[in-house]
Amino acid sequence: MEYGTALRPLWRLDPAVRFLNHGSYGATPRELLQAQQIWRDRMEDQPVRFMADLMPKLREAAAAAARFVGTSPERFVFVENATAAINSVLRSLSFGPGDEILTTDHVYGAVRQTLRHVGATTGARIVEAPLPLRVRGPGEVARAIETHLNARTRLVVVDHIASPSALIFPVEEIVDVCRRRNILVLVDGAHAPGQVDLDVDAIDADWYVGNFHKWMCAPKGAGFLAVAQRELPPVHPPVISHFYGQGLTAEFDWIGTRDPSAWLTVPDALAFHEKIGGASMRARNHALVVQAAQSIADELGSALSGPPEMFGSMATLRLPTGAPATFESALRIHDGLLQDFAIEAPAVAFQNALWLRLSAFAYNEPGDYAEVAASLRAVQSTLRA
Ligand SMILES: Cc1ncc(COP(=O)(O)O)c(C=O)c1O
Repeated sequence: MEYGTALRPLWRLDPAVRFLNHGSYGATPRELLQAQQIWRDRMEDQPVRFMADLMPKLREAAAAAARFVGTSPERFVFVENATAAINSVLRSLSFGPGDEILTTDHVYGAVRQTLRHVGATTGARIVEAPLPLRVRGPGEVARAIETHLNARTRLVVVDHIASPSALIFPVEEIVDVCRRRNILVLVDGAHAPGQVDLDVDAIDADWYVGNFHKWMCAPKGAGFLAVAQRELPPVHPPVISHFYGQGLTAEFDWIGTRDPSAWLTVPDALAFHEKIGGASMRARNHALVVQAAQSIADELGSALSGPPEMFGSMATLRLPTGAPATFESALRIHDGLLQDFAIEAPAVAFQNALWLRLSAFAYNEPGDYAEVAASLRAVQSTLRA
């Protein structure tokens, strides 16, 4: 398979931009947009019949998707996105004053806000375990979480792949530590499908949420929630509808009129992923991004957020800017890279530092990263000016 520029026409991506941010929203290839359009056309040909006949088709797509992530269809539901799935779990559980919910300081912003809401409405205390600025190995993440568990901890919310640092967390080990103490675990795998070889049942979290619209290239709006096979408090969708109380799949599969075409296109996305190389493409993307990020970090006299084996198809490097580590500085770096150098890559302010996160997908090649270090230097000099 010839990757890089040769493959790029499969996507609509603007050829004038070096697109180094597959991570934020994915990018859906033309053929999957066409597959989605076919579902939409069928829906509009006869809306009433389409909705009446929808459930078997939806369950068929869910079965293929569940198999791919390593779980069973009856414990798997589609949702709009990872945020919706996390809201479903967090807002279905009951907490009270004296309870603690533990996460880490790498937690995704929207999840942090959902946790704040749950804390504010239930009285539960939200605790963020700080991770070292430069993580040396997966064990450090597991230990940071373990040392913050106590008799009040009811739930741990942990990333599979963290958004700001791009680090893969040792979720099996974290789940194991928590289960031995009877603490529930919700894994946020928004970035995992398509970056790592995923086996949800082997991880054995109580709830695992993820997306097909990022690294699996499905149309936007294809998230999922998988529930472990054991007695657990029931989880309801963020919108209560006709099938309230009738079980996971009944409740989530119908929450009112909406466009299910992204979900119905997931089987095509699974086939597309295999067609462009599956596991070997993931290994290729990993090698590309780690090498590119390391050489940019070397040029800048900086370092990556962790060791190579903790990255999938994204890697984050620290920016030695001297500028304040604020949202505004990060935005100026992003905008400067895009406007002056046509490079699309997210800069983030976190842990009192500025970072740049790079992605590699099938359409990227080494040349896409060649100008990043020099462009960053130029943008950073304007920040100090
Ligand atoms: C770790 C993590 N969790 C959750 C999300 C939210 O995903 P979505 O926008 O699909 O809800 C993201 C998005 O980037 C993420 O990185």
